[in-house]
Amino acid sequence: MTDPSETLPSDSIDSILDEIERKAFSKIEQAADSAELEVLRIEYLGKKAKLSFVLKSLGELSRDDRVRIGGRANQIRNGLEESIRKRKEVLKGAWREKSIDFTLPGLRAESGTLHPITQTVHEIVRIFEKLNFEQVAGREVETEFYNFTALNIPENHPSRDAFDTFFTGHGHLLRSQTSTVQIRIMEKRKPPLRIVAPGRVYRPDTVDASHSFMFHQIEGLMVDDRTTFADLKGILHLFLRKFFGETSKIRFRPHFFPFTEPSVEVDVSCFICRAKGCSVCSQKGWLEVMGAGSVHPRVFEAVGYDPRKVQGFAFGMGVERIAMLKYGISDIRLFFENDVRFLKQFF
Ligand code: DAH
Repeated sequence: MTDPSETLPSDSIDSILDEIERKAFSKIEQAADSAELEVLRIEYLGKKAKLSFVLKSLGELSRDDRVRIGGRANQIRNGLEESIRKRKEVLKGAWREKSIDFTLPGLRAESGTLHPITQTVHEIVRIFEKLNFEQVAGREVETEFYNFTALNIPENHPSRDAFDTFFTGHGHLLRSQTSTVQIRIMEKRKPPLRIVAPGRVYRPDTVDASHSFMFHQIEGLMVDDRTTFADLKGILHLFLRKFFGETSKIRFRPHFFPFTEPSVEVDVSCFICRAKGCSVCSQKGWLEVMGAGSVHPRVFEAVGYDPRKVQGFAFGMGVERIAMLKYGISDIRLFFENDVRFLKQFF
């Protein structure tokens, strides 16, 4: 019997294993894709691989060499299998990152939308801009002078009461009406003037379906040397027909505001029932939409205009109220609760 170690010298087997160890692992780690990896698997672990040949010929070795080389060769085989498995995982992950699975449902890109109040403000302002009115802004923190005194609201008027206005101290308050902007603009500019001023106003009302401590108004003011009450009626008629529908009728009811004389409350015929009477107009056929009037001479005096030389009109409307009427919304709180189910209806 020949000694197998003589036909296959163990040191030459060791150098075969050395070579495999030196090359195989780094090649596997660098395999660029699964096809390349499969070629390497066949090269190093396939039937015709050098390692398979070594394992097959273990029987021909002496007992000591068989144990030592057998152990080493098996360790290398397990190591190669393991690193092929790991590389496969890495390649799979990379593929997943790179590729798009067109069969998956798409991710919806949720786009935001303007708040219904902002939309309503824009819609109203746009109509007035077409009539040559300019949009301006005032301040939310005001003084008694702008909120009351200059607007001819007497010292003892109930709206000056702490129950009706948020006083913030040091003579300041949160404006309770946008009429303040009339004063701010007239102080700075000379007539002719045509402005609309949208903005937030604040009142310490108990919150319910039709009251909020904060809401929005749009103020309007037109002043020159000949603007009359007839212009007020014409402009508001144009606006209300554009906003509520071309068949709308308009009605003025006598009212009182300290800063206008004469003053009116403006009604528009109910666009739901066409003035026949329904739940939106409380069977009246008319919807109250704003206050208005000819600018009071004392207001002109307060801003340094000569009331004998200028005349004009002003109006003010609540945006929430108008949006509620137009869109059939029954509760003002819906505007401020940020419930997307509500807001989404105004895309
Ligand atoms: N400022 C009034 C309010 O808050 C609304 C108003 C009425 C404004 C008549 C005006 C006006 O400019 O002329 O109730």
